Amino acid sequence: MTHPTIDQRDAWQALARHAREMRTTHLSELFAGASGRHGAFTRRAAGLTLDLSKQRWSDETLDRLLDLAREAEVPEAIRALLAGERVNRSEDRPALHTALRLPAEASLVVEGEDLVPSVHATLDRMATMVERFHAGQWRGATGKAIRDVVNLGVGGSDLGPLMVTHALADYRPRGVHAVDVHFASTMDGSQLADYLARLNPETTLFVLSSKSFTTIDTLSNARTARDWLMARLMGEGGEEGVDAELVMQQHFIGISASPEKMSEWGIAEAHQLEFWEWVGGRYSLWGGIGLPIALAVGMANFRELLAGAHALDSHFREAPLEDNLPVLLALAGIWNVNFLDIRAHSILPYDGRLEYFAAYLEQLEMESNGKSVTHDGQAVGYSTCPVLWGQLGPNAQHAFYQLLHQGTQAVECDFIAPLVRYEDVEDPATRNHLMGQHRLTLANCFAQSRALMLGDEAIEEDGPRPVHKRYRGNQPSSTLLLERLTPATLGALIALYEHKVFVQATIWDVNPFDQWGVELGKKIAGETQRILEHHADITTMDDSTRGLIEAAWAAERGS
Ligand code: F6P
Repeated sequence: MTHPTIDQRDAWQALARHAREMRTTHLSELFAGASGRHGAFTRRAAGLTLDLSKQRWSDETLDRLLDLAREAEVPEAIRALLAGERVNRSEDRPALHTALRLPAEASLVVEGEDLVPSVHATLDRMATMVERFHAGQWRGATGKAIRDVVNLGVGGSDLGPLMVTHALADYRPRGVHAVDVHFASTMDGSQLADYLARLNPETTLFVLSSKSFTTIDTLSNARTARDWLMARLMGEGGEEGVDAELVMQQHFIGISASPEKMSEWGIAEAHQLEFWEWVGGRYSLWGGIGLPIALAVGMANFRELLAGAHALDSHFREAPLEDNLPVLLALAGIWNVNFLDIRAHSILPYDGRLEYFAAYLEQLEMESNGKSVTHDGQAVGYSTCPVLWGQLGPNAQHAFYQLLHQGTQAVECDFIAPLVRYEDVEDPATRNHLMGQHRLTLANCFAQSRALMLGDEAIEEDGPRPVHKRYRGNQPSSTLLLERLTPATLGALIALYEHKVFVQATIWDVNPFDQWGVELGKKIAGETQRILEHHADITTMDDSTRGLIEAAWAAERGS
């Protein structure tokens, strides 16, 4: 028997009726109609302040959205997620990224086993590894201390560590042997080729990050890296006594849910870190996959990142729905996508350290909720994840903000900024300049969300504007302020979005923890590669693909 889908329920229907009135209400009217809107729609938790007053909603809208969350059983879903129930139904397993950030003294018994001891055992193994690097004691095959670590991974095995390492670059530990961390993800080898051209094989180590250890992108890069090391460390001119086993032992670390595949590939058991099946790739930066982060910022800061995420997890578990940051952020998105037909969402950090945050969220949100089938296998009759993209806000102002202000698309925006920055720059003159630049950046952040909200009304002018200079405003946005960008607030920020995605998935009744949609392309690519490499029969291919393959063959013959 099929049960009514969410869009057939009373709360959804009531929202649909309410939306008919709200669609014709401009944001400027909402602000003119009520004082204290900022206070009424702002909530705080774990060092984050979320201002939702520039959403195109009223108190009544929020009440009705909270009814929808209750009708979709969001509180029950939060409890089930955090308790380790098998919420990933298509793969029949829990989604326990929150277990990775539980403190050592906590306990989480899932299906008869307390997970916390093994999580902390892995963290302790990471700490031992990091200590060896930072003491200059992790030596390459020729006896020199490792100086460069290249993470080979893609998707969740790249974007999280890359984003956090960049965001926390100021937290590089002092007084330790310096280790530079790099990332190579693309299957075409362009990033890797650049590193191989300039790094010293004697002092370079590769981290193979892959939950499945079958991802062709990562394995291709890994094979190239392995041969590069072997040829240079054991070939002519290489040191005597350096053999393949020693190179594998000293120059590779593996992080995967498949120890067998890591061993088969040649990674020493002592240099393998565990990745549990119950952690999804895009939710994995909190464990072994975070090793590059720990190497870059030190284990103490890595643990602070976990503590910040855990603080947000506790808030998510305990705060009532109406004060719960992930729930509110999720409801704003649902309101825009499903009731105001706003299906584009832009992520705009006003802090250069968050350069990769939008790329990270693109995977987190779209790979999680880019779905069109409910848990029970029914096709959804409503929109799910919007198209989400972003860029550093100040740079985007000189690029795609034109579309936000005057294009034909309605877009929801998330503005993200730290309140305090540069206070610890030593040189007073430079500090003053940089603090001034920070104020300038904040001013732009606040000004842009205001201009998007009010349009022409943001500024008084004499006389009417020509039509090409008009701004309609009414673009909804959320503003997220961090007291400071620290490991802890960054952890909380990431956890906020992880949980937002979960709440939206719960309301849309889709599974945010699988990604079957990426499999077809991988399969077809395998078949295409066989044809391309071995000049196999192409008659089964469609006309366009045949033409493209023939062009590649012709180019190869001519080269
Ligand atoms: O193809 C998509 C995907 O499976 C992502 O979900 C994942 O983060 C990425 O590839 C990398 O996968 P793995 O860590 O198994 O190499």
